[in-house]
Amino acid sequence: MLSSRLRLLAQWRKPLNRWARGRLWQIYDQSYDSLLGHAPLHRRWLEEMGLSSELDSLLSIGPGRGELELALCRDYGCNFGYAESHSRYCQAVEASFKEAGLGERIIERHRGYYQNFVPQQRYKLILSIHSWYSFGYDASLMRRTLNALAPGGSFILTITSEDDFFFLNALKQQGFSAEEFSRWATEQGFPHKLHQLRMSVSGSELVADGALTDNAKGAISFLKGKLWRKIPQPERQQIEQRFVQTTQHGDVERVYGLLHFHNTDQP
Ligand SMILES: C[S@@+](CC[C@H](N)C(=O)[O-])C[C@H]1O[C@@H](n2cnc3c(N)ncnc32)[C@H](O)[C@@H]1O
Repeated sequence: MLSSRLRLLAQWRKPLNRWARGRLWQIYDQSYDSLLGHAPLHRRWLEEMGLSSELDSLLSIGPGRGELELALCRDYGCNFGYAESHSRYCQAVEASFKEAGLGERIIERHRGYYQNFVPQQRYKLILSIHSWYSFGYDASLMRRTLNALAPGGSFILTITSEDDFFFLNALKQQGFSAEEFSRWATEQGFPHKLHQLRMSVSGSELVADGALTDNAKGAISFLKGKLWRKIPQPERQQIEQRFVQTTQHGDVERVYGLLHFHNTDQP
C-alpha cells in the first residue's frame, strides 16, 4: 500500500516541480477565471460555513496571486501570513496588499518552499488551495500546519476530486486526488470532513469545431505539468477524444475536494 502511494507521489511530483517554469504559469493565469474559479468558490463556501465571520488571522500556503486572501483581509480586517515559492507571486501579493492599504496586515511572510517554514504565529484560518500537490503524503508537514492553528481555527486543504472532469479525462493515471488524500489523512489520525466544491464549465470553452480549444489544452498542460506538445501523441489523441465525446452533452463539472480540519480547542 505504502509503496504504491510513494510511486504515485513520485509520478505526481516529477511534473509538478516544473510548474514554476514560466510558460505553464502564463497558461494558469489565462485560464484562471474561466476554468478554475478557486477564489469565488472558496469565498462562497467559507461564508456558507460561517468560517469568515470571526476571522482575525489568515495563513495562506501557496496563495498564487492571492485574490481570495486580499478580499478576506480587506473585508474582515484580518492579519495575514503566507508562504509562497514563486517570486512572481510573492511580488504580486505584496503589491496588491500595499495598493489596498493593507501592507501592514502582513505579519509573516516566507518567500520560499513551505516545507522550510515554521510559522511563528497562530492562525484562525489556514488555506492550502491547490498547493498541497507539492507536499503529498507528508504527515510531519500536516502536523506542523495543524500546530499553527489557533484554538477553534480551521485548516482548509483543497485538491482535485476523483469526480472532476479534468481528473477523469486527463489526470486519472497520476492518482493524487482529494478522496485518496482524505483516506490517508484519516488513517494517519488527522480527523477532518471532506466536502465537494462544484463548478460548471461550458463545453464550448473546452471544445470547438470538434477539437480542443487552446484554453483546454492550456489547462490540461498546466494540470499535467507538461506543455501540450510534450504530451505523447497517443495520449493527446485519447484526451481529445474523451473531451469531444463528453462535451457533446453540454456543460461539464469541475469538482474539488475540500478537506476541513478543525482545531477543537476552545478559543
Ligand atoms: C495551483 S497554484 C494555486 C494558487 C492559489 N492558491 C489559487 O487557488 O489560485 C499553487 C500555488 O502554490 C505555490 N507552491 C507550489 N509549491 C510550493 C511550495 N513548495 N511552497 C510554497 N508554495 C508553493 C505555487 O507557486 C502556486 O502559487
